[in-house]
Amino acid sequence: MFEHLSAFPPDPILGISVAYAADPSPAKIDVGVGVYRDESGRTPLMESVRRAEARVVESQTTKSYLSTAGNAGFNAAITELVLGADHPAVSAGRVVTLQAPGGCGALRLAADLIRSASPDAVLALSRPTWPNHAALIGGAQIRTVEYPYYDRATNALEFGAMMDSLTALPAGSVVLLQPACHNPTGADLSAPEWAQVGELLERRGLVPLLDLAYQGLGDGLEADAAAVRALCARLPELLVTVSCSKNFGLYRERTGAIIYVGRAPADVHAVHTHLMMHARRLYSMSPDHGAAIVGEVWRDPELRAMWRDEVDAMRERLQSLRRELSDALAAAMPGRDYRFIATQRGMFSLLGVSRVVVDRMRVEHHVYCAPDSRINIAGLNRGVVGRLAEAVAAAVAQGG
Ligand code: LMR
Repeated sequence: MFEHLSAFPPDPILGISVAYAADPSPAKIDVGVGVYRDESGRTPLMESVRRAEARVVESQTTKSYLSTAGNAGFNAAITELVLGADHPAVSAGRVVTLQAPGGCGALRLAADLIRSASPDAVLALSRPTWPNHAALIGGAQIRTVEYPYYDRATNALEFGAMMDSLTALPAGSVVLLQPACHNPTGADLSAPEWAQVGELLERRGLVPLLDLAYQGLGDGLEADAAAVRALCARLPELLVTVSCSKNFGLYRERTGAIIYVGRAPADVHAVHTHLMMHARRLYSMSPDHGAAIVGEVWRDPELRAMWRDEVDAMRERLQSLRRELSDALAAAMPGRDYRFIATQRGMFSLLGVSRVVVDRMRVEHHVYCAPDSRINIAGLNRGVVGRLAEAVAAAVAQGG
């Protein structure tokens, strides 16, 4: 039955870790997959998470099923984390949150929901976007189109072209937007630009699907959710997908959620039942462990404060690495402008070099970044920044 299948190429992002692991060079540098690392190169277990996990393990008396809706404490925590303590949409009964297996699981649920509610709806993705967006959305048989987002020639947003493109979408289309820490570009919309996007979505009857995978790592936990909160106050309905991989460091626990904001409680109830039906058909219910940890961090004021401090420290470290890398690249390549690395936000930026240069960086300098030249700033440490800049400069100097 399966003998005619030929092997897929490695995943463009996860495959980098495999190639990196196989490289025996002691000088190798991993700026591929998006995981946060500390100064010693480890992906730390956050202290607030470690303490909450110990309590969860200590107090749990059963591993029986919870429900397709997920962990209730976690769902409440995520609603508050994303929308704030007293968003009017929550008190109006316009919001429901369903736990999902990671941000990926949440995106797939969103896609299935969109497809079942509106089979002909078009979903617009930014160009460029995270490669798995198209795969997850495409898995639900939704037609996707692209809107211009980032100009590789100027290393800046193409906001005017983006707005023109979104204006041309048919009413009822869905627009996938990243509220903070855009993957792969690190280029985020400003508050006035978000206001213009909100006005356009409202006027044209477009529905945003907001992928919030890095809350806290851009400008802060509240600032990174500001666009979601503003759109939620303005629009009749929207979807948010949430990941706890990065801001709780729960990568392998697959902890995420989908939030639906609707017109009225009856619509919200109906969508909740649809989301549960899709979850049941896809995987029945989400794994609980990571969600129980997040719920415990959120429940305990002391752990929550500790967690906020830990997220703040990660973000501050990221921003200082950005400044250092920007300076190191400028010093290694006088005449090229790398200030954008310092002003962009989140874990990623595009170096803006060709695939030939990316391959040369890997083969000759043991630098592992994504094929589109995306680097994970959070994978760097002070000992590596200078070497990375030298490697980029040497690979660029050879041309291509
Ligand atoms: C990334 O973009 O590197 C992360 O979101 C990990 C992944 O699954 O691709």
